[in-house]
Amino acid sequence: MAEVIWGLATSHVPSIGAAMDRGRTQDPNWKALFDGYQPAREWLAGHKPDVAILVYNDHANGIDLDIVPTFGIGTAERYDVADEGFGRRPVPDVVGDPDLSLHLLEKLVDEGFDLTVFQELAVDHGFTVPLSVWTPDPGDAWPCPVVPLLVNVIQYPQPTAARCYALGQALGRAIASYDKDVTVGILGTGGMSHQLAGARAGMINAEFDAMFMEAIEKDPAKLAALSREELIREAGSEGIEMIMWLIMRGAMNERVRKVHSHYFVPASNTAAGLALFDNRAGQTA
Ligand code: DHB
Ligand code: FE
Repeated sequence: MAEVIWGLATSHVPSIGAAMDRGRTQDPNWKALFDGYQPAREWLAGHKPDVAILVYNDHANGIDLDIVPTFGIGTAERYDVADEGFGRRPVPDVVGDPDLSLHLLEKLVDEGFDLTVFQELAVDHGFTVPLSVWTPDPGDAWPCPVVPLLVNVIQYPQPTAARCYALGQALGRAIASYDKDVTVGILGTGGMSHQLAGARAGMINAEFDAMFMEAIEKDPAKLAALSREELIREAGSEGIEMIMWLIMRGAMNERVRKVHSHYFVPASNTAAGLALFDNRAGQTA
């Protein structure tokens, strides 16, 4: 049986990756953000899973906007890093885990989540920046194979928070029913509050973010009750990305232990948040 050992929620702001790629992490405007990642990175370095599942959204880089699956899963052996128009990031391609992907696909379809299947997929900043937040110096390879789970958060109608939480719970059951004894890390990505365009461009809602950060640990059902409109009103049109944190949380135990959290405003136009949870709350870390 496979076991989720940790969950990591993190923003995926592209300039966080660019700051790392260009050696700018100790610049005055970036230092506090990256210093705040350190305790999580240290803990994660001592808790390397056999495989990770990364819940993310593509931003019209790997998938054209004429095809927008609500939920999808990658089943490939490898995923290229997308060139988003300024050259591809100097980070490794992603090694997949087709066996686990196909198991999750079958179980989730059986539970009524009809995922779109990606046998080929280039991953953009929504995927590579969270990997960099976890592993700043991957060398030739990321720490383990990673299965991409895709969510539409960029085009109306996005899935509801409740549907994402339910998908996470089904994902947790699917992981538990895997016949290989592997440890699993799960990443929920995007957020926190931000809006990139329109009259409210640049809006940040620190109060809402603080509520979300607290509730994702202690009361995710409260967040699952938020409507799409409430999320966009409170967190911004791109802040709705945080529904992906609920998929991660749904796959974890009811009680988790917070290892570390960090909140920084602004990274580019975004409130950057990180929260790391130990899923073995009753055991020694
Ligand atoms: C920014 C944030 C995002 O979530 C994104 O996908 C692209 C850009 C930003 O704040 O610059
Ligand atoms: Fe985004």
